Amino acid sequence: MQRDHREQLNLSWQANADAWTAAVREQRIESRRLVTDAAIVQAILALEPKRVLDLGCGEGWLCRGLIEHGIEAVGVDASEPLIAVAKKAAGGAQYRVCGYAELPEQAAQLGLFDVLVCNFALLEEPLAPTLEVLHQLLARDGRLLIQTLHPWRACNDASYRDGWRVETFAGFGEGFAQPMPWFFRTLESWLALFSETGWRLQWLQEPLHPESEQPVSLLLLLSSERQA
Ligand SMILES: C[S@@+](CC[C@H](N)C(=O)[O-])C[C@H]1O[C@@H](n2cnc3c(N)ncnc32)[C@H](O)[C@@H]1O
Repeated sequence: MQRDHREQLNLSWQANADAWTAAVREQRIESRRLVTDAAIVQAILALEPKRVLDLGCGEGWLCRGLIEHGIEAVGVDASEPLIAVAKKAAGGAQYRVCGYAELPEQAAQLGLFDVLVCNFALLEEPLAPTLEVLHQLLARDGRLLIQTLHPWRACNDASYRDGWRVETFAGFGEGFAQPMPWFFRTLESWLALFSETGWRLQWLQEPLHPESEQPVSLLLLLSSERQA
């Protein structure tokens, strides 16, 4: 069952690539426009990195933004069509098709990064193997930055327990051909996962919607416990 969810997750990012690209580039997603895009960019810039790896980079908006700040940006994503549109608008960023499962074999070519960033891109279960592998990509004193849905908001009326949910992209515009399964995690579960995989929490932020003043996302900065 879990494999089916992961296959459908992967398939959705192939099938929805054009619709997603339009939604992002036309700034149709209010929470991104008002809150979360600025939150992740600001968190990265505060770390003053030279080299950043954007994991699950999608159509590449974040890498393009970092290049404008003189930061070397590399994006990886499992979706070939998303990497194709990212490359067309690269503006100096580098992109490569690479699922998280392929990171161990691609690590040597990718090199080391001051910041690893996952912006709404850790959607599957199990995640521990991916989080384990990220240590290999981290330069000395590097950091891992994760922005994800705020579990208390994303939970809606369902029970507050880990489990697969489905995103239909309603309200994101037309052309979303395939629903996306994604794995909901409670805050307790996220923190346990980081602890199990050798990541120490440096800080956690809860960016708020400016009008409702409800938390829109969880933003976490982590350091590696595997570095001497
Ligand atoms: C919600 S989109 C976010 C894209 C981008 N980070 C952004 O902020 O616009 C999730 C992205 O994660 C990618 N993704 C999900 N699971 C992945 C995996 N196992 N390996 C590589 N990419 C993955 C998808 O292809 C998709 O581009």
